Amino acid sequence: MIELHRIDHVGLRVADLAEATARWCTQFGLHVRERRADTVRLACDDEPCALELIAGAPAGLHHVAYELAPTCTIDQACEHLERQGAAVAARAGRLDTMDADGNAIQLLAHREPASRLVAHARPAGHAVPGHPRKLGHVNFLTGNLEDQVRFYTETLGMRLTDWLGEDGVWFHVNSDHHVMALIRTQPPQPHFHHLAFDVVDVGQMRLALDHLGRHGRWLGWGPTRHGVGGNIASYVRIVEEECFVELYCDMEQLQADHRPRRWPDDRFSSNTWGPLPPRSYFRFDQAAIDSERESLEMLGTPLPPAPAQEAV
Ligand SMILES: [Fe+2]
Repeated sequence: MIELHRIDHVGLRVADLAEATARWCTQFGLHVRERRADTVRLACDDEPCALELIAGAPAGLHHVAYELAPTCTIDQACEHLERQGAAVAARAGRLDTMDADGNAIQLLAHREPASRLVAHARPAGHAVPGHPRKLGHVNFLTGNLEDQVRFYTETLGMRLTDWLGEDGVWFHVNSDHHVMALIRTQPPQPHFHHLAFDVVDVGQMRLALDHLGRHGRWLGWGPTRHGVGGNIASYVRIVEEECFVELYCDMEQLQADHRPRRWPDDRFSSNTWGPLPPRSYFRFDQAAIDSERESLEMLGTPLPPAPAQEAV
């Protein structure tokens, strides 16, 4: 058997560890929990780690780590992964595997938190005022949606929450609407799309976005109100590590008897408040970044084709 409890952290490879550490802390309100020669572990609040920065190249996603449920041991999870035919390596207190697109995944043994009280009743520790509440989910672009759905449900034990037509799918492991989501890309160009931090409300999101704007950041999309998931979401372009950070609040909370739904693939399902994203939102090449930074698609300049060398 296998049962996941929550997303634990995202690992990003960074070009300059000192620069990236300072940047993520200053811009997103994270703080350092642990510093080693080649890695730094950052947290939102008093959790062990939300974001692990790893010195190396190329910059971008290194891994996503999930914590197992208290009812599922490392040995049980390992046996399940092997039975499913997944490549799995056991290390101290964790399992390493990869999804159908080759994205590295770590499964960590369950750890009882220092306190099970709600956040506002726990000691603040080193958390920064206005910090995000937690890392909530990740999102991937894939050209291999069917195999990825099979991996995340049958092999990792995630449960389906919703479909957006035939081209988007959301998965949960607890009451949050999603811990992971997949969007089909055309042409098939798999890429990590975003990691998402939970903020208290739109007031905190406004403070964060004002702060990020003063650091030269911009939104690839948002603020939106997603139909699917219900979250109010803003997507901040991270040029340095080839991804977005989503700041979100007010995500739908699921009942224990939730059954997957299929939403029509239309503008309203994506954003009940209005616009769909510019096409640059689905790309990470320089032309897309340049277009997005100056909002060129909205000014009537179509996005140039993706560079051939980026095609898979
Ligand atoms: Fe998201």
